[in-house]
Amino acid sequence: MAALPEGFDPTDPDVRQRGIQLQEFAELRKTAPVWWVEQTERARDGFLDTGFWAVTKHADIAAVSKNSADFSTSENGVIIRFQEGMTREQVMLNNALLINHDPPDHTKLRGIISRGFTPRAISELRDGLVEKAKEIVEEAKAKGSGDFVEDVACELPLVAIADLMGVPQEDRKKLFNWSNQMLAGEDPEYGDSPDVAAAEILGYAGALADERKREPKDDIVTKLITANVDGYGELSDDEFGFFFILLAVAGNETTRNSITHGMHAFFEHPDQWELWKKERPDTMVDEVIRWATPVSVFQRTALRDVEVGGVEVKKGQRVGMFYASGNHDEDVFENAHKFDISRSPNPHLAFGGHGAHYCIGANLARLQVDIMFNAIADVMPDIAPMGDPDRLRHSWINGVKHLPVRYN
Ligand code: HEM
Repeated sequence: MAALPEGFDPTDPDVRQRGIQLQEFAELRKTAPVWWVEQTERARDGFLDTGFWAVTKHADIAAVSKNSADFSTSENGVIIRFQEGMTREQVMLNNALLINHDPPDHTKLRGIISRGFTPRAISELRDGLVEKAKEIVEEAKAKGSGDFVEDVACELPLVAIADLMGVPQEDRKKLFNWSNQMLAGEDPEYGDSPDVAAAEILGYAGALADERKREPKDDIVTKLITANVDGYGELSDDEFGFFFILLAVAGNETTRNSITHGMHAFFEHPDQWELWKKERPDTMVDEVIRWATPVSVFQRTALRDVEVGGVEVKKGQRVGMFYASGNHDEDVFENAHKFDISRSPNPHLAFGGHGAHYCIGANLARLQVDIMFNAIADVMPDIAPMGDPDRLRHSWINGVKHLPVRYN
């Protein structure tokens, strides 16, 4: 394919660190929407094959997502590429996470976990989060300038998860450090000890569960570890520990990066910032999340020979659902490359393609993005950039480590 660089692999962390490959994805959507990526040996450490199918059209991504009968998450997990040196055993350890379960196990576990994510549970967090967001931006403003990621974007997701899980607020920095270490094994800034971080977080979760067993409270941890009337039972100690890990990672990096990319998008589109400050359209939230698409790609593995977008995928082959591409698909989004906070409808795939694994925290994430940008517009409407975003080196997270800004 002439327009693609030789050996192009859309999961290459060095390429991704420079920015999402929108041009290459556009070319793929046009000429080879389901395209075989043959990977170098080091790029596929932990997997037993030689590459994967890159699925780049919105409709095909949604079709794969919704097809749990033909596509598994437990065969190879959802993460399409790990840091070099990953072993098969380490990949298989990730099978303990909810997202890497197939039905019927997945259905049972998700049923239990849904108790924590009812509309009521989420709306009960609102007032506390509004207050906290105000505090965060006022503190940042008092500093005059600083790193938006550290001062503003990372805080609310941590508070939300800590609140949701009954983690004392003074421990939330621990969550922040653990989740950074577990996910950022490919970026030298965060060290290379994901296993140590995972072990520490499991220990922490175990102690929290023991405490609730001794002294039950009216909180989600208690609900998850005690038998319930809805027929789904309770989480075992291990299941609870791995759920805790999933939440710490899934709820943190994603929401933090949505807020950071959203702020950067507003800097680059000042007309949209003016519009937000004046009219506060509720369509802003989903446009920020589409623009950010913090999870660029997750994968599935075919359980049998199956057709995707006219291409025959063989049993056992991996299929990457490139949400970052689907969210710029010109067949679905008018002016897909425009950041337009009034966009409606906005059927983006940033939370997945509406299949069995659709993000359980989507409404909590939306709530936080809404609250944060309201607080920023209220308290520091003249916020301005002081440099470029410093991007995370990562195979599947669209992340920003630092964004220097002036707060007033
Ligand atoms: C903007 C923020 C977020 C984005 C972009 C995001 C994205 C995603 C995506 C793409 C999936 C997989 C969908 C699939 O495979 O079909 C997912 C699953 C999940 N997310 Fe999120 N997420 C966000 C925030 C959150 C939050 C705040 C939480 C919890 C506090 C959360 C918890 C989960 C969990 C537990 C799953 C696994 C669900 C399952 O396997 O059944 N996420 N998320």
